[in-house]
Amino acid sequence: MSESPFDLETVDRLLSTTRSVRRRLDYDRPVEREVLLDCIRLSQQAPTATNSQGWRWLVIDDPAKKRGLGDIYARGIPLLDEMSKSAKDAQTAMVYNHARDFASRLGDVPVLVIPCLEGRLDADAEHVHITSYYGSVYQAVWSFQLALRSRGLGSVFTTMHLTFEEESRELLGLPENVVQTALLPVAYTVGMDFKPADRPAPESITHFNDWGAS
Ligand SMILES: Cc1cc2nc3c(=O)[nH]c(=O)nc-3n(C[C@H](O)[C@H](O)[C@H](O)COP(=O)(O)O)c2cc1C
Repeated sequence: MSESPFDLETVDRLLSTTRSVRRRLDYDRPVEREVLLDCIRLSQQAPTATNSQGWRWLVIDDPAKKRGLGDIYARGIPLLDEMSKSAKDAQTAMVYNHARDFASRLGDVPVLVIPCLEGRLDADAEHVHITSYYGSVYQAVWSFQLALRSRGLGSVFTTMHLTFEEESRELLGLPENVVQTALLPVAYTVGMDFKPADRPAPESITHFNDWGAS
């Protein structure tokens, strides 16, 4: 292998241990706005379609607004219960159970971060436009989550509150043309030793040149 410009052990550990953190969030330690802005600054190096850079970030640390969002999020609990019952394997069932337990505590997390995009897709948007639209924010979101992890904070990428997008938009006072693309609860983590998750071998999900061959 050619020489790396990075300390690969550290980079690989960051990439393989940035988990969805729900049960090890420190609810009592405040998160400084400066550290969030630092992570947002790093996320801005992500690619965007046609260099659009349409990402916008809404950071909620106001207790009343967090509670309101928490109440909206918790309305998805019956759905998580249903999904837990029909989970395809033990790992997935465990995720749903953790997600369910976490749902009632979301409003207590120190900060809720909502990555947004300015400009709404047409209802009949073509596949290429849908992929370019969401592809122009989610790469930045993952960079943001990696930057958090590297600084001792944890987060979870969630979408459940978007089942009630209209109510949350009203609560947050967002204009019609600002689209919420996720909701990331953010906090310092209790301990920092996270482990890689169990995943299938890359060979089993990769095709070279021909879909029929591996
Ligand atoms: C598109 C997307 C939507 C998700 N929505 C939620 C959600 O609403 N609530 C939640 O607790 N986790 C949510 N997750 C987190 C997943 O449950 C989690 O990534 C998955 O179980 C794997 O765990 P890991 O991230 O630690 O590897 C979402 C993840 C993605 C990528």
